[in-house]
Amino acid sequence: MALDTQSIYVTALQNTHAVEMQALQIMERQVERLQHYPEMEAALRRHITETHGQRDRLEAALSSLSALPSTLKEGFFGFVGNMMALGHTPAQDEILKNTYANHAFENFEIAAYTSLLVIAEAAGQSAHLSGFQQSLREEQAMAEKVAALIRTTTLRYLELSISGQKADR
Ligand SMILES: [Fe+2]
Repeated sequence: MALDTQSIYVTALQNTHAVEMQALQIMERQVERLQHYPEMEAALRRHITETHGQRDRLEAALSSLSALPSTLKEGFFGFVGNMMALGHTPAQDEILKNTYANHAFENFEIAAYTSLLVIAEAAGQSAHLSGFQQSLREEQAMAEKVAALIRTTTLRYLELSISGQKADR
């Protein structure tokens, strides 16, 4: 059975929307728990605000096609879920695992938006392209921020741990 580009586009919108809803859950949970890593906390807070806008753009595109956000697709989230579960287990090095997971997740989102943009163009859906390009730039900026924080976060983790202070989150 052949699929038309329009239905492929709707599915891509739904998948990307599900990714953003997952992103919000992950970041909100981390932000609540973070105590000793203010730079990571600030980056997450800023990106939570951006992610609300990204979610709204996807919902606007879906409703312009009279389509609804889908319920979570389990298979699709198997990979992401496993990756994020790393950070969900309370551990002495929770902050490090969350940092790795955040880095992976932002790059996952970059791939999702890069693909969505190709599909949107193929489907002749130009109305929301510039919005999704903005979302992609925000994901790229956050990915760079998290990448830059790997070193400083690890150094702070080492410093707190070695001096006997609370370092986990
Ligand atoms: Fe993101």
